[in-house]
Amino acid sequence: MSDTVLAVDDLTVHNHLDDTPAVSGVSFELSAGEVLGIVGESGSGKTITCRALLGVLPDLFEVTGGAIRLLGRDVTSLTEREWTQLRGSRISAVFQDPASYLNPSIPVGKQLEEVLRVKNRLRRKDARAKAMELLAAVHIRDPEYVYQQFPHELSGGMLQRVLITTAIAPEPAILIADEATTALDVTVQAEIIDLLADLAERLGLALIVVSHDLAVVAQLCQQIIVLRGGLVVEQGATDQVLFSPRHEYTRLLLEEHHRFGLERFLTSTEPRP
Ligand SMILES: Nc1ncnc2c1ncn2[C@@H]1O[C@H](COP(=O)(O)OP(=O)(O)OP(=O)(O)O)[C@@H](O)[C@H]1O
Ligand SMILES: [Mg+2]
Repeated sequence: MSDTVLAVDDLTVHNHLDDTPAVSGVSFELSAGEVLGIVGESGSGKTITCRALLGVLPDLFEVTGGAIRLLGRDVTSLTEREWTQLRGSRISAVFQDPASYLNPSIPVGKQLEEVLRVKNRLRRKDARAKAMELLAAVHIRDPEYVYQQFPHELSGGMLQRVLITTAIAPEPAILIADEATTALDVTVQAEIIDLLADLAERLGLALIVVSHDLAVVAQLCQQIIVLRGGLVVEQGATDQVLFSPRHEYTRLLLEEHHRFGLERFLTSTEPRP
């Protein structure tokens, strides 16, 4: 049996607002433990691609072509009810602004516990124990303390850790991280990147990492898709895309990043063109 977790074939998302394709021709396969990066400038369709995969497109956006197979099941025409069962259990996501996904008036541990009660069907006592276990597993040093903190009492990096914990609690096959490290300072960003890499490896979690930052993608991903204006301009293994880009646009993206020290993250021994 193949270990393909997600297979996307020629995905097209139409934008009925201005009657244009928002995304077209996106195809990839992702296996357990594998990490795919999606890069491209603002407005290139990265988030719309993710939202199509999560079954949560904005109003007036619609999947009009192609196929999305999640764990062997075609999810392109699921009902809202069917999506509700899959989303947050088989496929999960974290975004840029963790605070906005948490209730400000409930301690973060309680919110994680609630997810475990609903999604994992655990009893309160078991849910609390599991919450502590999971917080420790994402390298939170003092889970008991963090558990009882309100969102405003925690740093952005800690909140993102809590949100990642909440996202992986139901043991999804795929996690989508859309600009999940963008708002964090560099040191914390590196810690979250390490955590995501660890989860992919240790849990066999398939990851989709969306980022403006090629350094983030270089560190985490085995394959990369470069989007521009909703179209795939380049796609391939990370080394190939970053060391011998075929498309001028990718070269421009890379040039910008080299100025900010992308070399630090490129570990390949291949000569650069
Ligand atoms: N909720 C929405 N309502 C209307 N248009 C939208 C919405 N979300 C995205 N769009 C439009 O769809 C296109 C693709 O946007 P998308 O959010 O996927 O870009 P992105 O690559 O994620 O950009 P960024 O790097 O800024 O997050 C853009 O033209 C954008 O204006
Ligand atoms: Mg986006």
